[in-house]
Amino acid sequence: MANLLACKPMHTLMQEAQDTSEHALKRTLGPVNLVMLGIRAIIGAGLFVRTAAAIADRSGPSVTLAFIVAGFGCAFAGLCYAEFASMIPVAGSAYTYSYCTMGELVAWIIGWDLVLEYAVGAATVSIAWSEYFNRVLDWFGVRIPYQWSHSPLETAMDTGTRGIINLPALLILLLLSALLIKGTKESAIVNGFIVILKVTIVIIVICVGWGFINPANHTPFIPPPTTYITPQGITHHYGGLLGILGAAGVVFFAYIGFDAVSTAAQEAKNPKRDMPIGILGSLVICTVLYVLFAYVLSGVATVDDFRSAGREASVAFAITKYMHGYEWLSKSVTVAILAGFSSVILVMLLGQSRVFYSMSHDGLVPKVFSEIHPRFRTPYKSNMLFFVFTGLFAAFLPEDIVGEMTSIGTLFAFVLVCIGVWILRRKRPDLQRAFKVPAVPVVSTLGVIICGAMIYGLGWTNWLRLIVWLAIGLVFYFSYGRKHSKVQALQATGLKPKPAPSMAD
Ligand code: ALA
Repeated sequence: MANLLACKPMHTLMQEAQDTSEHALKRTLGPVNLVMLGIRAIIGAGLFVRTAAAIADRSGPSVTLAFIVAGFGCAFAGLCYAEFASMIPVAGSAYTYSYCTMGELVAWIIGWDLVLEYAVGAATVSIAWSEYFNRVLDWFGVRIPYQWSHSPLETAMDTGTRGIINLPALLILLLLSALLIKGTKESAIVNGFIVILKVTIVIIVICVGWGFINPANHTPFIPPPTTYITPQGITHHYGGLLGILGAAGVVFFAYIGFDAVSTAAQEAKNPKRDMPIGILGSLVICTVLYVLFAYVLSGVATVDDFRSAGREASVAFAITKYMHGYEWLSKSVTVAILAGFSSVILVMLLGQSRVFYSMSHDGLVPKVFSEIHPRFRTPYKSNMLFFVFTGLFAAFLPEDIVGEMTSIGTLFAFVLVCIGVWILRRKRPDLQRAFKVPAVPVVSTLGVIICGAMIYGLGWTNWLRLIVWLAIGLVFYFSYGRKHSKVQALQATGLKPKPAPSMAD
């Protein structure tokens, strides 16, 4: 009889972290690199595309408040992530943390859930990439026809054309998956350049756009509660508190990525000190930028804009329509966004392969996910399989659906992490923690409440999708993972598990 609460022994994790063999990941990242890594993973489609969707479908200008709510939820969860990361400095993210705190079943649920965060998240950003890519083509008088750049669940509002497949989204996923298979070196220079580019664009839009805010667009700042039916026929609460909570769930997507810093723990020079700095530093910088950006965007264009022509490539749309004389900004934003989105997709696909690599090493998913290419030293089969998986989502589903699935999946993982840090404080008070969350019960509880409130705000269609996804995961676990788990097998024999070998980036 398998023990569903079996925990991966902490000493095994530490052994993995201290593995200094020639294959170990190199410890090259300092605090500034980690903050940069965070910002690189964070700023993307959430800000440049999902903000407009939240304004249109859920909250109007009160999207600014939604960013504050989501920021608080992330801050509390981020503190918990930081404590874990400073204590268990190994790759693998929330999955790894939960395996040694809450046991195998919860670890499985989180690992499975992280597929929504990383793989489905990558699909979402690739759909957003497709929107801005079409805008670039527009400058040259060409455009990929609507049906070849949209999912079958979308219909053009003006012509009534129905989508068939989103080819540009598929293309960018293919290119980046191929790059991952070949192996990308985390180049500090490229990283730094992309981060500076994204942050600069956000700051310019805030500064220039501030002068184009039309106070009428901010009135009333919190629309009275009503409902709105999306183009896909889904009814959402619009306005009022529920509108803000729903919008917070939608724009929460914009914060996803700070936890990717924790997956780089094995590459940090001084993980105990630098991981909290990397996680919380990137989060604080992004929250300030997001709140200001959302205030400007919702003040420049109207809710009706974002429900019609401005629904796609919304930032470039708003600049072109309302900020006359700034066409150069619209073009620069578009190019910067395409580069920024590509880097986010890369980080997410990399995060996905790392989590499944760990799960595969633990025996919970098949070996194919940890098979390393003899020359490139990358988990190439995993990359190929995830290209197929993300490709199907990107090609055939609308951005709203995949974006909200990413949000709800990640929120659920955050709730479990908040609970996990508390459990470990009680279970293993003896473990050294370089960073300790102040007032754990309060922070954990607030993290659970705020993330839970956003889950609630996302509405029943998303709850249903999450439940179905988790149910599929449990079928997998009970039919495969549980039987192949190395921790279970070793517990039965009383032997110590071997540490995981490392893979290249
Ligand atoms: N936070 C990342 C983005 O907004 C996932 O694209």
